[in-house]
Amino acid sequence: MITTIFATKSSTKTSIAVSTAIYLKNKGVDVLLCDLDSQKSAVIWMEYRDADEKLISVPTVEKSGSTVYSSLKELSLKYDHLICDCGGKNDASGRYALLVSDLVIIPVFPSNISLMTLNQSLRSVEEAKVQNENLQAIIILTGVNSNPRIKDTDEAREAIADLIKDYDDISLAKSFITTRKVWSDISCTGQGITETLNDKASSQFIELMNEVIL
Ligand SMILES: Nc1ncnc2c1ncn2[C@@H]1O[C@H](COP(=O)(O)OP(=O)(O)OP(=O)(O)O)[C@@H](O)[C@H]1O
Ligand SMILES: [Mg+2]
Repeated sequence: MITTIFATKSSTKTSIAVSTAIYLKNKGVDVLLCDLDSQKSAVIWMEYRDADEKLISVPTVEKSGSTVYSSLKELSLKYDHLICDCGGKNDASGRYALLVSDLVIIPVFPSNISLMTLNQSLRSVEEAKVQNENLQAIIILTGVNSNPRIKDTDEAREAIADLIKDYDDISLAKSFITTRKVWSDISCTGQGITETLNDKASSQFIELMNEVIL
């Protein structure tokens, strides 16, 4: 199976990709993390991880450009699950990944500017579906205010529901991710969110995984 995290700039893609790969690895899944972003944030994250011998290593590769298509196809025969982290510029590497993926996860902030860019991601998914008709897409709300009294997601959910109403294979997850400092801490400890002591962040992510991945 190939799952790709695809969205615009700074939308928590790498954080989600890395935590997903680590979550699966800790469950015993034979997972490969594929960094398709020239920034190499996922690779750097894994370097921090490898420096901590208490943390189980997650195999990671970097791929870019047109080789992404054939490389991911080949690697998917060797691993149970590939998790691909894309760059934030709707670049060729990410679009090639969509051509071979089973699932694309699109994280989006509940803000007007983020919702405006969602359309661009949805267009890329639709273009990929011309060749990869079984591609499923799921949008997840990220960066949600951690104060439950601030209902920043209600309007966003309505706007997203309207955007996807004509698409069969694109849905919006019920689970979401709130803004929490622990997410920025883990990028330099090498941990996945489910390995932290932050129960709220961890259980929220597990709920998301149960809905979206397993
Ligand atoms: N749930 C969260 N709460 C608070 N901060 C977060 C959360 N998720 C990610 N972050 C932080 O937000 C920033 C952007 O996250 P990340 O690098 O994962 O996004 P990205 O979409 O991969 O960005 P890019 O487009 O540059 O690749 C990072 O500093 C990260 O630590
Ligand atoms: Mg990134």
